[in-house]
Amino acid sequence: MASLSGYVGAIRMDSPVMLAAGILGTTGASLRRAALSGAGAVVTKSVGVAEREGHRGPVVVQVEGGLLNAMGLPNPSYRSFQEEIDIGREGGVPVIASIFGATTSEFGEVATGLDADGFELNLSCPHAERFGAEVGCEACNVEEITRAVKRSVSVPVWVKLTPNVAEITALGLAAQRGGADGVVAINTLKAMAIDVESCRPILGNRFGGLSGPAIKAVAVKSVYDLAGALDIPVIGVGGISRWEDAAEMIMAGACGVQVGTALRKPEGYGIFRSISEGLAIYLDRKGMTLEELVGAARRFS
Ligand code: FUM
Repeated sequence: MASLSGYVGAIRMDSPVMLAAGILGTTGASLRRAALSGAGAVVTKSVGVAEREGHRGPVVVQVEGGLLNAMGLPNPSYRSFQEEIDIGREGGVPVIASIFGATTSEFGEVATGLDADGFELNLSCPHAERFGAEVGCEACNVEEITRAVKRSVSVPVWVKLTPNVAEITALGLAAQRGGADGVVAINTLKAMAIDVESCRPILGNRFGGLSGPAIKAVAVKSVYDLAGALDIPVIGVGGISRWEDAAEMIMAGACGVQVGTALRKPEGYGIFRSISEGLAIYLDRKGMTLEELVGAARRFS
């Protein structure tokens, strides 16, 4: 069977199929379970400086083509999170801590306060005041925060980008200037749903972020553009639920992929193995290596 192992954003993995931030990454037990189920690496739920309850509910609603969430970055603070990372590590794959902050110094504090195999900077959550995309939609902030975190830790640093801007490559280039080891594209798209009987927005926060199949084509285009513009690795996320989706993202230029919303499918944690196996069988059938698949569609431009 074709090998899927290699480096993804400077982190060695046996498979490029990872658990995305936010889904199931709240506890060490679920991180470990994803790892033991075949994920090449697992990304935690985002943690920040202070404990947060998040937005009032409903915080998730199913919509056509995916899920709409406005969790509001609920988290126990990094101060109570190291144990979850350590339990996650028992799964035997790299644990990447997703972290957020309102300022450069908050990002630095969280990064230096945690021992993880890598960091993913959440500069892209679309619905949390003062955090996420409110910080990460400005290229100068992305560059400064990335540089500061890179200086303060000795493990790889990825930057998760928002698609809610005119030109995502400008943010990717900023992350690259700041020294990022990779960029992750994309976080959710700003969206909302309204209940027609009560005439009210369904989410407690009124709007949130859309994930799932509906955003896959946006993610593929973002990865394609970023891979063409950047010298650092791109990791694709958004609407991946089958090996074909992962292959498409890799052909666009991603060297790794993350799976989130699709974990709600009946196969649950089994999705990591089924996507990896599907990719390996496909590579064998095509007589290609994984490296050759990365950016394959770019050669037709
Ligand atoms: O609210 C949340 O925890 C979601 C974060 C995100 O979309 O990045």
